[in-house]
Amino acid sequence: MRKSFVFASAIVALAPIACAHAGQDDFSGVIAARQGQFHILDYNLGILEQMVSDKLPYEQDVAENRAENVQMATRLNQDRNWLPGSDLPPVHGTRAIGIRANPAIFKAKWGEMMKRADSLQAVSGGGVEAMAPAVAAMRETCQSCHEFYRPKAEGAKR
Ligand code: HEC
Repeated sequence: MRKSFVFASAIVALAPIACAHAGQDDFSGVIAARQGQFHILDYNLGILEQMVSDKLPYEQDVAENRAENVQMATRLNQDRNWLPGSDLPPVHGTRAIGIRANPAIFKAKWGEMMKRADSLQAVSGGGVEAMAPAVAAMRETCQSCHEFYRPKAEGAKR
């Protein structure tokens, strides 16, 4: 993809939101939506990881498409994905914690992920060697946020 993204406003606006869910504890919709976006990221990045570790053959169009999906998934607007109370235990079905209490760090980490997704997309057509460092850098941003905002569950891979 050669489009350039300018999505300043998409960077996680975590201003308090008056919402129908506030005060209720059924956050199943918002939790499914945000977890869905993370699965899209994980699935697409995973294919690129398999290419750089020789588990899948490198194919330029596949690599470019997957990197583009990663890039686009980082652009999903976040401002209704972290409704008040939906990141506080013991809300059922979520491992998110403390995002609204610490929004600045969350925003910074999300912004860094967007930048690295752009870099990954930019090199994805250039073969495995060109792509490998950008793939690793991308995964690092995932982990650095999870360490902060998604406590490890017992038995979980990451
Ligand atoms: C800025 C913070 C942040 C970044 C960056 C981030 N994540 Fe997450 N991720 C979270 C949080 C918080 C949750 C927990 C969401 C929940 O359970 O409600 C999560 C959950 C997940 C899940 C589990 C979803 C489920 O069904 O339980 C996967 C998979 C995941 N992230 C993958 C990724 C990948 C891959 C990346 C990087 C490309 C990434 N994440 C980047 C914060 C982040």
